[in-house]
Amino acid sequence: MSVVRVDPFQPEQEIIKRAAEIIRRGGLVAFPTETVYGLGANALDEVAVRRIFTAKGRPSYNPLIVHVGEVEEAQQLVRSWPESAEQLAQHFWPGPLTLVLPKRPEIPDLVSAGLPTVAVRMPSHPVALALLRAAAVPIAAPSANRFSEVSPTTAGHVEKSLGDRVDLILDGGPTMLGIESTVIDLSGPQPILLRPGLISTEDLAPLIGLPELPARQPSETAPRPSPGMLDRHYAPRAELRLFAPDRRKEAASLAARAVEEGQIVGALLLSALDAPIQHAIPMPHDPSAYARLLYAALHSLDDLGCHLILVEEVPATPAWAGIRDRLQRAAR
Ligand code: TXA
Ligand code: MG
Repeated sequence: MSVVRVDPFQPEQEIIKRAAEIIRRGGLVAFPTETVYGLGANALDEVAVRRIFTAKGRPSYNPLIVHVGEVEEAQQLVRSWPESAEQLAQHFWPGPLTLVLPKRPEIPDLVSAGLPTVAVRMPSHPVALALLRAAAVPIAAPSANRFSEVSPTTAGHVEKSLGDRVDLILDGGPTMLGIESTVIDLSGPQPILLRPGLISTEDLAPLIGLPELPARQPSETAPRPSPGMLDRHYAPRAELRLFAPDRRKEAASLAARAVEEGQIVGALLLSALDAPIQHAIPMPHDPSAYARLLYAALHSLDDLGCHLILVEEVPATPAWAGIRDRLQRAAR
């Protein structure tokens, strides 16, 4: 495995060419996208895709997102391209939006975990786009971390989590957005939000002619078999506890007790908490700025050996939905 620095705005052609060759030969390349780092393989090569699952320790019932360098490439991977897909792709691609559509048979079943649909996305990061265009194949890429760990927003996070399991890590610096793409299912009679992200339901609904976008019902919690396992996604090693802004007193005494017991306590705070916390990180009040910092903050608190991380709840508004979702999954 090697880590190679690459210019995030004007990626060096020789480096991209080398990475593209690794993809074409069936290898694994970790690369920056605007959301998080991805662990990429040729989406049309089943053996290569299998290496992704092995490297991540990811159960095969969890389908992958297929990344493309052009809108037309996405259209060739799916059986239908409804008007809603056209509208959303026109507005948000390249960018942090993933569309789930009926899949063509050329896509290995392993990519879609046996589902009749495939998730497609055209990322906007110049390194990701350059790699996709040089490889000239669609690239299946989950976040470049071991299953259930916090997603990586730097090459260092990828190295720490996957190390030698990757052939090449392209280091384009920290990612710009910081949480994973919004995922919307367009394969059924009605669009459904599968994963909230920084593109909010308020951004999406008007474009597809809806006043409001229905979210997936908990009972339908899509790809199999144990929703509980998938819920344990994005978790740091430390125990993460959320507290409402009006429960500061309880949070402070929880922290005090933990510290008394010899634990190391960290916190992500929107305002001051009067408690003996060793590693309190003040977080921004703007959702995009918060998202950019979130995973790096959790990685650093883990590295500092925190046993407990107290996190102040964020507002329950559409703009914060992606962040609320990741925090709720990380809490236990
Ligand atoms: O921002 C992102 O989306 C990042 C970067 C690397 O592009 N990728 C990412 O991949 O977050 P991953 O594998 O960590 O998450 C993929 C999500 C999962 O929630 C998965 O269940 C959903 O997409 N997904 C993929 N294919 C699907 C399908 N056919 N039907 C429903 N959900 C699908
Ligand atoms: Mg992931």
